[in-house]
Amino acid sequence: MKDRIEKLRSEAEAYLIADQESLEQFRILYLSKKGLIPALFDGFRELPADEKKEIGFLLNSLKQFATDRYNSSKESLSSAEAATTGRDLSMPSVPFGMGSRHPISIVRREIIDIFSRIGFTVSEGPEIEDDNHVFSMLNFAKDHPARDMQDTFYIEKISGEESDPHDVLLRTHTSSVQVRVMESQNPPIRTISPGRVFRNEAVSARAHCIFHQIEGLYVAENVSFADLKQVLLYFARELFGKDVSIRLRPSFFPFTEPSAEMDVSCNLCGGRGCNVCKGTGWLELLGCGMVDPNVLEACGIDSVKYSGYAFGMGIERAAMLKYRVNDLRLYFENDVRFLSQFRTEIV
Ligand code: PHE
Repeated sequence: MKDRIEKLRSEAEAYLIADQESLEQFRILYLSKKGLIPALFDGFRELPADEKKEIGFLLNSLKQFATDRYNSSKESLSSAEAATTGRDLSMPSVPFGMGSRHPISIVRREIIDIFSRIGFTVSEGPEIEDDNHVFSMLNFAKDHPARDMQDTFYIEKISGEESDPHDVLLRTHTSSVQVRVMESQNPPIRTISPGRVFRNEAVSARAHCIFHQIEGLYVAENVSFADLKQVLLYFARELFGKDVSIRLRPSFFPFTEPSAEMDVSCNLCGGRGCNVCKGTGWLELLGCGMVDPNVLEACGIDSVKYSGYAFGMGIERAAMLKYRVNDLRLYFENDVRFLSQFRTEIV
């Protein structure tokens, strides 16, 4: 038995393992269930007790030797293979990071969610519009400066006139969607319209030629300014936190009368005044007002029976206040170092 073990050991030592195939043959010959080493273990059981200790030790070390040889040959073969193919097949794969939502999408979804909870639906409309839906039906005077080439991107000028209801242009606000809703639906209407808008402005930290808006519209019987104010307070508190206060300053828009701009109390200093709110304690967030009866009539809605309120805000503006990122350009550059900082539970 002892001789047999020694002979097997020197054979296993000399066995030529040159590739995967000979490695597998080595395993079958010595280590597999029906291999030479397990066969020796079968014979071991019949040995007299006084020989078992010594032979048992020799047998175990033979088995260990063959197993080690098998494992080390396997490893060196796979790294040799890597060297010839140029690939290390045992290397972990390249990790790829989780994506994250764009901050504008996060805030847009959040705002939609806040208004959905109180019954607002979402309406969308075309980005390429006509003068009628962007300006005329919204009570913009013929010579209103917003129609000027300086502000509006025109795609097609129908006539040489200052403005024509059929002029084709990129919408400068999503109020145009609300016109389309009022044209095609009867009150009560309660909707918000998120979307991209375009204005011919030089790109800087504070202005961009493309940005996003969400505008809201409620038209029904007996809608009052108090309703508007309460909904805006609810909205501001949902978006910025329960301690936020709002204030309304008189303003002007062609399509609302009366009109106001809404500020929220500065969520950095709590209203005491800091450099973000320029010492005022307030941050400007949106424009709003009661829908001008001329607009209702232009859309075929009886302005004696119905009244309504509207409001509109820039999503970038809301995101700036929420995240304190004060350079608008960052929202458009899609630098992953910027984008990966925004995480949200809302999917
Ligand atoms: N449409 C306005 C804008 O783009 C915002 C607004 C909407 C103001 C509704 C009042 C009412 O600035």
